[in-house]
Formats: sequence, C-alpha cells, structure tokens
Amino acid sequence: MIKVNFKPSENYLDRAMAAFDVLRGRQGRGNDFLGWMDLPSDTPESIIKGCEDIAVEWRDSGVEVVVVIGIGGSYLGAKAALEALSHTFGIRRKGIEVVFAGFNLSEDYHADLLDYIHDKSVAAVVISKSGTTTEPAVAFRIIKEHMERRYGRKEAASRIVAVTDKSRGALKSLSDQEGYRTFVIPDNVGGRFSVLTPVGLLPIAVAGYDIRAMLKGASDMASVCFERSKANPAVLYAAARNELYDNGRKIEILVNYNPRLQYLGEWWKQLFGESEGKEGRGIFPASVNFTTDLHSMGQYIQEGERIMFETVVSVENPGRELTVCDDPQNLDGLNFLSGMRLEHCNKMAEAGTRLAHMDGGVPNNRISVDRIDEYNLGELFMFFEVSCGISAYMLGVNPFDQPGVEAYKKNMFALLGKPGYEAQAEAIRKRLD
Ligand code: PA5
Repeated sequence: MIKVNFKPSENYLDRAMAAFDVLRGRQGRGNDFLGWMDLPSDTPESIIKGCEDIAVEWRDSGVEVVVVIGIGGSYLGAKAALEALSHTFGIRRKGIEVVFAGFNLSEDYHADLLDYIHDKSVAAVVISKSGTTTEPAVAFRIIKEHMERRYGRKEAASRIVAVTDKSRGALKSLSDQEGYRTFVIPDNVGGRFSVLTPVGLLPIAVAGYDIRAMLKGASDMASVCFERSKANPAVLYAAARNELYDNGRKIEILVNYNPRLQYLGEWWKQLFGESEGKEGRGIFPASVNFTTDLHSMGQYIQEGERIMFETVVSVENPGRELTVCDDPQNLDGLNFLSGMRLEHCNKMAEAGTRLAHMDGGVPNNRISVDRIDEYNLGELFMFFEVSCGISAYMLGVNPFDQPGVEAYKKNMFALLGKPGYEAQAEAIRKRLD
C-alpha cells in the first residue's frame, strides 16, 4: 500500500474531511460524474474479458502494432501505464507494441507514424468520449484510410475497435455504419477519470499487462481512500496541498526519480489541472524528472521565487538491479561507489535533494510506492483521483467539468472554416493581423 508523509494542520484536516463527506456522499457539484468511484469494484467481467479477448485475438492473428488514437483523458492514462510498465527501450514486450496518435495535429508526427507502420501488421483503437474531438478524429481519418487501402474496408473494420459514448457522437455513428466493435465509456465518467474503463484497460491489455491486477490495486486503494478517517492518505494529501496553496504556494511540482514515471506526471497534470484550474483558482500542476531536471529546473527550484512545493512519487524497489563497477585506475575518482547499487545513488540523490530544497524554502512531501507494477499503478490512479475530488471541493470548484477547454476550439474551428463559425471567423482573423 502506498505511504504518504503529509502533515497538514488540524484546521485543514477538518476542511478536507468536510470535502471528503461531500464527495463520498455524492452531494457536491458535478455529482453526475462520479462513476469513476465505483469502477474498481463494479467493472463487469464482460468488459475485462472483452479487453483481454481482443488482446489475444490480435496477438494470435499476428498484429504487430496497435495505434491507439485519443487525446487528453482518452490517452494519458494508458500512456502513463505503458511507459511505467514497459522496457525503456521497447524490447522484451509482453504483448503487442502500442503507439499513440491523435493527441496533436502535427503533420510531422502523423507522417512519421505512417512511415513506421507501413510494413507492419496494424490494428487500431480509437477513443473519444464525445466522439467529436478534432485531433483524434483527424488522426483516425488518416489511419483508417491507410488501413482500408492495405486491407480493404471489411478487414480494416475487423482490425478497428472504438471506445466511445453509448449512443452519441460522430464516432458512434461511424462505428455503427462500419461495423466496428465498440466499448462504452460510461456517461458518468469524465475523460480524465476514465483510465480504469476500456479507455485505459483495452490498450493496457493489448500491450500484455494485467488489467485485473490494476483493478485490484485500485479497489484496495478505494477501500482506504473512501474510509472516513483523518489518516486517509487522500484526505491528508488534499488537506496539505490546499494549506500550502493558501499560504502562497501556487505551483505543485510532481517529482519522480525514475523516467518510467514521466507520463504518470503528464496524466496527473491533466487530472489536477483540468479539475481545479477554473474560476480564477487552482494550484498549477507541474512535473519534473529527477535527477535529469536538477540540471535544468534545479536552479529555479532551489533559489527562484518561493511559489512552489514538491510532491515526490518515490519508488521503494526498482524492477532491475545494477551495480557501479570498479575501475582499477580510478581516473574518475568514483571508486568510492564501486559495488554500490545504482538505485542507492538514486536514493541518496533523492534524500539530498529533499533536504536542499527544504533548506531553500520549498516544502517537500513524499508518496512512497512499493514498486512499479500493475497493482501499484492501480493504487496510484485511484489515490490521485480521490485526492483530486476532495481537493477541488476544498478549493470550491467543480472538479468534473472543463468549460475552459472549449475556448481554443471555437477559434480554431472559425479559422479552419467549419460551417456555422462564419460570423466569428472574420473578427478572429483581424485580431491575428
Ligand atoms: O478530461 C476530459 O474530459 C478531457 O481531457 C477529454 O478527455 C479530452 O478532451 C478528450 O475528449 P474526448 O474523449 O471526448 O475526445
């Protein structure tokens, strides 16, 4: 089970308990989007087995690459899990190679992707809750055309699975028309809370990982995080970060010392940024990879403006073992490290950095996780989701909407000439001159 060392004051703990009651009692703003709370225990066997069966079917039929198409909450959870669980250099795969698309509009990215898949056996998972998001829709158009050209329309359809709303949106209509297999994203689960639906489970299963273990980790964590207790780690985290925010710490930096967790940071940024950043409020979520970024962001964190605090996700046990070798010549003067586990050096870097940053006036807290595996990732996903709900209610905002995401879309549609946006287009173009 994860351990945390947050020590908020009694006042903030009480406030966090009140917000916890609102969340658990399903009485707060956005309470029609609380389906994620029940996912670990209530996900039907048919969905779990359905994801596993597609993974087996594609593996047995020789599929070499699965392109997962989605943006925001429709890709970050799976990306975070796969980066965390997979070999850093892409070897020793457990399942099929998964690559991602549709999370940007870059011509270079998607043209490079077509180069990469052109001679490989390909399948695709297209994910969009609304079924109308431009980035994944455009990417899917490109991948679909590629697959239909290579395999014909019928076989391409058998290699495509859509994950979308049960009845609404262009992706649902397209799936019905083309006969794609589909998984439903429940109405009451928002994108950034959807990693434990087929949005995350299907790509993770396809890549060969144990989605049952992930759901078990999430379920065990849910038992802890929905317990009405001042020792509840989600309550402690929400209380501590709100206290820091009210004391002028407007930025939270999620820190890792293992590059495999880089995308956990990206997923966490979306979760907290979209849930809390509204109505002129919210902690700005940032992330760094240490020790790498100690040589880029370290200076600012140590001595720049005192507006941030750090939350370290610390992994107790690495999955691999490597020691520093001895060098009889010792020209680099590093023989004091000979025979030492590299992870021990990493842990000492972590301890030294914690003290240095605290001395520099940056509050530093830790979330410890036993190891990086499916079970522990399930725990982390659930822990952060519950913490986020409590924390946003403490801030006084609705954690489950994202009205600000629409602003850029309107301008982009007008500039691209989307029918219905003619009136805005001229005014917007003038502002760009
Ligand atoms: O959290 C959210 O709701 C958003 O980030 C969405 O996940 C993102 O905008 C993608 O939306 P959709 O799944 O509808 O394509």
